[in-house]
Amino acid sequence: MSASNPTSHVTFLDGRGELPMLEITTPWSTAEIYLHGAHVTHFKKNGEPPLLFLSQCSRFEKDAPIRGGIPIIFPWFGKPADKPGQHGFVRHREWALKSIQSPADGSVTVRLVLPNSPELANGQITVEYVVEINDRLTTELIVTNQTAQPFTFENCLHTYFSVGDIKAVSVTGLKGAEYLNQPTGFSRHTDTEDAIRFTGEVDRAYLNTAGTTEIHDTSLRRVIRVEKEGSQSTVVWNPWIAKAKAMPDYGDEEYKEMVCVESGNVKENEITLAPGQISRLKVTLGSAVTN
Ligand code: BG6
Repeated sequence: MSASNPTSHVTFLDGRGELPMLEITTPWSTAEIYLHGAHVTHFKKNGEPPLLFLSQCSRFEKDAPIRGGIPIIFPWFGKPADKPGQHGFVRHREWALKSIQSPADGSVTVRLVLPNSPELANGQITVEYVVEINDRLTTELIVTNQTAQPFTFENCLHTYFSVGDIKAVSVTGLKGAEYLNQPTGFSRHTDTEDAIRFTGEVDRAYLNTAGTTEIHDTSLRRVIRVEKEGSQSTVVWNPWIAKAKAMPDYGDEEYKEMVCVESGNVKENEITLAPGQISRLKVTLGSAVTN
């Protein structure tokens, strides 16, 4: 399958682990999307290093999540006591390709849909994911409740960003926000710092944070902007040394090269959709090189 615009190309091929994937080239950028998890594993603007981190140790297997890129976390975040696994189940389901469009400007838009499943009322709760690729990367997770009952869920686009050196990274836009700190049993704090810097494990779920955040990476001389709609939570994560060593699908030293700034609705920001309602979580990632 290929897009109709001559300036853009979309190729459907076997990716790693022989999992089906789309390789996309636009006039501004390249990207890769696996049907497994509807997982964007790669986005790179021409003339810049890759925007997304992907672990060298990631599994590419049917029942395992991919480590890096943008895992889709749904319909729960983390590991609530009454749930069977961590971060929901859609990140290791195979999604179906619904359409590929490429308008005259050369952008490419890929639509994927989650196959019906008993956990989601056998198709009465539909989940669609739209990925738009041009000089930015835009992802939108659309959930529709067609049941007669309210449906409560968490969602998160768990984005792994590639950075030059984590010690030269700061994340801005969250000053004054409340967060739940996972390493201390989700204790509640208020962030009073101008920027988050990384000198150890950071694993925080910021609540009621609908605004834009920025990742300042002085090592790669790049600023990444994370703009979002329909997201009240921002999760900031770097596993640091001990947790990196404990993760089998992640290199011991890779914590130096990545930071997760995740956009979604988690914990007390969970969403309840009334019958017939639609939820849209949309994230746009842009970047610029600084001097
Ligand atoms: C983050 C969580 O969102 O995801 C962390 O806040 C967790 O606590 C991380 O370790 C990675 O999770 P997983 O399931 O992909 O290893």
